[in-house]
Amino acid sequence: MGNFESYWKKKFEESAKFSQNFQMSISSKVAMNELRRVFTIFLEKYWNDKYKTILDIGCGPGNYFDIYQKFNLDITGLDFSPQQLEPVKQKFPDAKLIAGRVEETDFNHKFDVISIIGVIQTVDEPEIFLRRVKDLLNDNGLVLMTYSNRVALYPKIGNARYLYLYSLEEAKIQLKKYFDILEYKRVYYFPSVLNVFRKLFYPIQIPLLNHSFMFVLK
Ligand SMILES: C[S@@+](CC[C@H](N)C(=O)[O-])C[C@H]1O[C@@H](n2cnc3c(N)ncnc32)[C@H](O)[C@@H]1O
Repeated sequence: MGNFESYWKKKFEESAKFSQNFQMSISSKVAMNELRRVFTIFLEKYWNDKYKTILDIGCGPGNYFDIYQKFNLDITGLDFSPQQLEPVKQKFPDAKLIAGRVEETDFNHKFDVISIIGVIQTVDEPEIFLRRVKDLLNDNGLVLMTYSNRVALYPKIGNARYLYLYSLEEAKIQLKKYFDILEYKRVYYFPSVLNVFRKLFYPIQIPLLNHSFMFVLK
C-alpha cells in the first residue's frame, strides 16, 4: 500500500472510531440517499434472476446492504479497515465480511454483482484495482461503480481536494479499458451547509453540483 492509500486508510479508521456514520465527512447524507436511489434504479433495470452474489468493495459501514437484502443477494463486504466492519457485523450478521485490500484478497469464486461506491478516488493504483475487479466478476455479471467528479463544488471543500478525481471523459476512458459501459448517471448533492439551496437548484444540471457519476458496467 502506497502513501496515498495509507493516508486515507488512517483517516477512514479514525472516522470509524469517531462515528459509525464516518462517511458523512466526505459525502453528506443527502448524497448518500441520492446514490442509494440511483443504485436501486440501476440494479432493478439490469437485474438478472440468476444473480445470487454481491461483493461490496470498500463497503465501509454497509450503507447499501439493506438494498442487497431486498434483492436476496448473498453479501460479501470487503474493506481494508477492520474498524469499519465492526458495526456491520452486528447489523448484518449473515453477511461475509473481509478486512483487506481487494488487490491482495483471495477469493475461491467470482461474483454476480460488484459494487464500488466512493472508493476509486482513494486507491493508489486504479488500473490494478480495476483489473482485479474485472477478474472477480462472473461472465454475465454487473458492476455498479461511482467516480467522484473533479468538476464539482465539493473538491473545494475539506479533504476532498486530496482525492483522485475524474472528469466524466477521464472516467470513461479508464473504465473502457476493462468494461463495457452500459449506462451512467450524474449524481447530485449539496453539502449540508448548502442544503437550503437544494430545492431551488436540484432540477438544474449544474456541473458544479454534480457530485459523482454512477456507472453500470459489464
Ligand atoms: C468513502 S468510503 C465509502 C463506503 C461505502 N462504500 C459507502 O459508500 O457508504 C470508502 C471505503 O473504502 C475503503 N477502501 C478504500 N480503498 C480500498 C481498497 N483498495 N480495498 C478495500 N477497501 C478499500 C475504505 O476503508 C472506506 O471504508
